[in-house]
Order: sequence, then structure tokens, then C-alpha cells
Amino acid sequence: MCREHSVPLFLDAARFAENAWLVTQREAACRDMSPRQVAEQAFRLADGCLMSAKKDGIVHIGGFLGLRDRALAERCELLLIATEGFPTYGGLAGRDLDMIALGLTEVTEPSYLQARADAAGHLARLTRDAGIAIVEPPGLHALYLNAGRLLPHIPAHRFPGHALACQLYLEGGIRSVELGSLYLGSEDENGDPVTAAPYELVRLALPRRTYGLSHLNRVGEVLAATAKDKERIPGYRVVEQPPLLRHFRSKLEPVRT
Ligand SMILES: Cc1ncc(COP(=O)(O)O)c(C=O)c1O
Repeated sequence: MCREHSVPLFLDAARFAENAWLVTQREAACRDMSPRQVAEQAFRLADGCLMSAKKDGIVHIGGFLGLRDRALAERCELLLIATEGFPTYGGLAGRDLDMIALGLTEVTEPSYLQARADAAGHLARLTRDAGIAIVEPPGLHALYLNAGRLLPHIPAHRFPGHALACQLYLEGGIRSVELGSLYLGSEDENGDPVTAAPYELVRLALPRRTYGLSHLNRVGEVLAATAKDKERIPGYRVVEQPPLLRHFRSKLEPVRT
């Protein structure tokens, strides 16, 4: 379709292997393919890709832009020199480049991807058992908790997702992120709500090769304790917000009304 309309197709490849694995699990036509074959087929269709290697590159830092068109690559390189420096200046150390090369190969191993799915599935069961609804079915990289349903006493403009994220941190040191009205809603200049997000969610991401079963069980215990005592969780009010990206940089305080 893109070719028909002369639109170049670029993949956001940050989660290419996990997505490919899900395709092998959920799309009948691809059931007999390996995740690597699915990924190769997707990349073959694309004119280029942007990769945040911190995800499916299984590295601590780094990423890359992949382009088929040499002339476009040269234009991008010029822009890079103007804004950051020569590609050889060492934005990424050689050690990290080596790790990316290895990570990109290991990440399509079915046993590794199956282990990711098992971890997400295990945490999903613990979360449901704690009485917290999630976006179903769970994928591999995160669970999305339905904070709106868990905390009906907190209206959208008091940010139930943010309230749950704060509570998980206070209760058990668990770091998560709101994806709800703080991220997607809007207010007028007096701080009065204008639009709410369609859902009030909290993302519990699962960093790769970091957590074992006992860590996940601990998260399950904290979720259960939080849900049991949910009426005491307060809403939040924005006390400071930047003109852009308030989700990332604003300051909030708890409020009871
Ligand atoms: C699909 C996808 N693309 C890109 C990014 C951005 O990555 P970075 O923080 O390395 O810029 C993310 C971050 O979560 C992501 O999930």
C-alpha cells in the first residue's frame, strides 16, 4: 500500500522480536514460522527502521537508524554532524556496538522469547488474582493495569493511573508509569479538566534478563496489598507543569478531593 502511494515505510523496530513472536503465536498463517523469519519478512518490506536498542537489542544503551537509500543516509549523516558530531565521535562505545550485534541475534531465539512470555503470563495471573484488571491478553514487554477500574473513587482529573503508580512505589518500591489522563488528557489554564484519556492505565514494564520468579512474586504481593486497601489511595493534583511533555516533567501532590 505504501509503495502504491509513494510513501516510504519505516519500522519502529524497538520491539521487533517480541512482536514477531506474538505474530507466530496469534496469526494462523504464521504459526509454522520462526520469530526470526517473521522479522525478516517485515524488514524486507521496509525502506528503513529506527531502533531503540535498549529494548530488543538487549543492551543498556544505544540505537540506530537503518536506511536502504544511500542518498538519504548521507543526508541524515550531515544532519547528525550538524547536531551531534561525526558518527565516529563515539556516541556509542565499541563495547556497546558489540553487545547490540550479539543482542540482535539472541533476541529472536524462541526459548528466550518463550521465557519472556512466561514471565508476563505469570505476573498477569498474579495481577488478576490480586483483583486488578489488565489489558488482555498480555504481551511480552509489560502489563497494563486498569487503574480506572480499580480506583473508581478517583476521577480522571485526579489521575487514578498516577495515583496507583505512586502507591506501588510507596508500598513496594515498584517503578511504573501512568498512561492515562496525565499523559493524554488536557486541562485549561486554571487547571480545570477539559478532556480525559479513554483509559486510565499503568504500565508495569518487564526489563529483559533482570527479574526472576521471586521478584515477580514480590510484585504480586505488593499488588495484592495495594488492591486490598485501595480506598485509602488519594488522587493527585498537578502543582507544576512544563509547556510541553507534562507527563514527563510535571510535579504533583496528593489530594483527597
Ligand atoms: C516502540 C518504541 N519505540 C521507541 C521508543 C523510544 O526509545 P528511546 O527511549 O530509546 O528513545 C520506545 C520506548 O519505550 C518504544 O517503546
